[in-house]
This record gives sequence, structure tokens and C-alpha cells, in this order.
Amino acid sequence: MSLTSTAAAHPNIAFIKYWGNRDDRLRLPLNSSISMNLAGLETRTTVRFEPGLERDLLTINGEPASGDALVRTVTFLDHLRRMAGTPLHARVVSATNFPAGAGIASSAAAFAALALAGSRALGLQLSERQLTVLARRGSGSAARSIPGGFVEWHAADRDEDSFAESIAPPEHWDLIDCIALIRTEHKKIGSTAGHALAGTSPLQAARIDDAPRRLELCRTALLRRDFSAFAEVVELDSNLMHAVMMTSSPPLYYWAPESLAVMKAVADWRRENIEACFTLDAGPNVHVLSTAQYAGEVKARLETMPGVQAVLSSSPGGPARLV
Ligand code: PMV
Repeated sequence: MSLTSTAAAHPNIAFIKYWGNRDDRLRLPLNSSISMNLAGLETRTTVRFEPGLERDLLTINGEPASGDALVRTVTFLDHLRRMAGTPLHARVVSATNFPAGAGIASSAAAFAALALAGSRALGLQLSERQLTVLARRGSGSAARSIPGGFVEWHAADRDEDSFAESIAPPEHWDLIDCIALIRTEHKKIGSTAGHALAGTSPLQAARIDDAPRRLELCRTALLRRDFSAFAEVVELDSNLMHAVMMTSSPPLYYWAPESLAVMKAVADWRRENIEACFTLDAGPNVHVLSTAQYAGEVKARLETMPGVQAVLSSSPGGPARLV
């Protein structure tokens, strides 16, 4: 056994969001969620378990990591070591080709790649479903970066039942995510702390109660490629999550003034019959979802907007893979 393995995974953008856990330690979500993997954007991670290494070492984009990123990685590796029954520590080297910490779910790609590379390095033969459960322990949304294309992650009470699966392959629908980058520095309150605050908002219970209805609307719109039904539920779901964030104590405001300007412009473009809708994660960047036919126009318009530094565009991506 070589004790080393390299894997790559895409980040994903959620159409129906995950915000708040029923179990914070196990990262068991309160509601199911649906997302699309983002082709072209990826995190590539090599894990090497080494006899004689006294502690785990983590390098991210060429820099030695400490603090929260290291603690989360060590906690994840501890879980892997228990699964494989080994005391060995690891050297983890990770590189990302997109800005971290600004609402492009960098932890999703990172923990999906770490789950695949780490489990293979230790010789564990996990099914795709088991890999999603493992990745979820590092970052909830990482479960959705293991399968390919359009993915649903199921909420459940038991660890092994909260898994993710593909509901349609990447080629099912030619959606493009045009990501308007507004700020690329690291966010102040990360999603782990945010999930723990969700229950302090009086709106969270209503958001969770209505989630099965939104999931059904989104799944159906996606499977029928019905853009107008899709746009309506995607924007509603994003706004509901941000309403919960803004009404938590303390309140979390992830939008920048420029984010709101883009959101309003996108709604106007839809009135001109351009297929586009917005969604935002825990950061100010606006993900503008469009179909391939309209994506060039959407990207060009976004690039002229004040405060938009750059626009990345991404089509539906495949599963996490060994490289
Ligand atoms: O996986 P986490 O803990 O980084 O949470 C992700 C939360 C959101 O990106 C805001 C929503 C989602 O479903 O991806």
C-alpha cells in the first residue's frame, strides 16, 4: 500500500440551500438541498500518510496552514484514522484555482477531494454514497461535490442516512453559473459558525417547514428544464436563507451594496426575456444562473456593472475523481 493518493473535486452552487444543522458535530442538516457542480473550478489535494510523522501538516496554495483550516483538517483526519484503524499522521497538500472564502464554497471542494484522496491513501474502498457521508463530516456541502452534475443531499437523523446522490448528469441541462466577483477576501463569519446561529432567527422554523415544497419545485423544474419555474424557486430560496442570516443574533449580513445592485439588475433582465436568476451563498459574490444561449450576454452585462471585479463562468461539472 503506497499510503498516498491525489484527488480533485469541483465546488458546487446550491439552488436549494443548506443552512442550519440538527447535529452540528456530525453536520446533519435540518433540510435537504440541491446543487450543481462547477466545472473548471477545482481543488486538487494530495494526502500522504507517513510513518514517523508526529503531527498532521497542511499546505494550502503553497502556504503552510494553521488555525481553523488546520483544526478542521485534523478533526477530519482523526475520523479517517478511526475508520481505517491507523495511528499514522499525514501530509496534506491542497491547491485551488479559484478565490477561497468568498461564497464559492471552497470548503466543499476541499473536503470532497480530501475525503476521496484520504480514504484511498488508507486503502479504504468506499462506495460513492459512503464517500458523500464521509465528506459531509468535513463540510456539509462537500457531500454534494462527490457525485457528478446535479446533486441532492438528503437530510436525515442518522449519520449513514444523510448522503448525496446525482439526480441528473452534467449534460442534462446547459446551465451556466456566471459568478460576479465583488469581494475576494476571506469572510469574517464562516459557515460553520453561521449554521450554529441559524436557530436564533425566528424565521428559520418557517424556512425549514417550507423546504420540502421548495425542493419539489426545484427538482421538477430542473428535470423538466423549466427555467422560469427554476428561477422563481432559486431566488426565493436564496432570499429565505439570507433573511434567516440577517435576523440571527448576532445578525449576519453577507451582501455588499453591489450584490443587491446585481440582484435587481438580473430581475430586470428576466423581464426582457433573458434567462437569468441569482443566488448567493455566505458571501457577497452573486451567482447568476443562465442557460448557454444567454450566458454570453449575461456575462458581458455583469462585466460592465460597478463593483464587479471579474466574472467566472462555469458549466455543470462531473464528480470528484482520483488523479
Ligand atoms: O458546507 P458549509 O458548512 O460551508 O455550508 C454551506 C452553506 C451555503 O453555502 C451558504 C449553502 C449551501 O447549501 O451551499
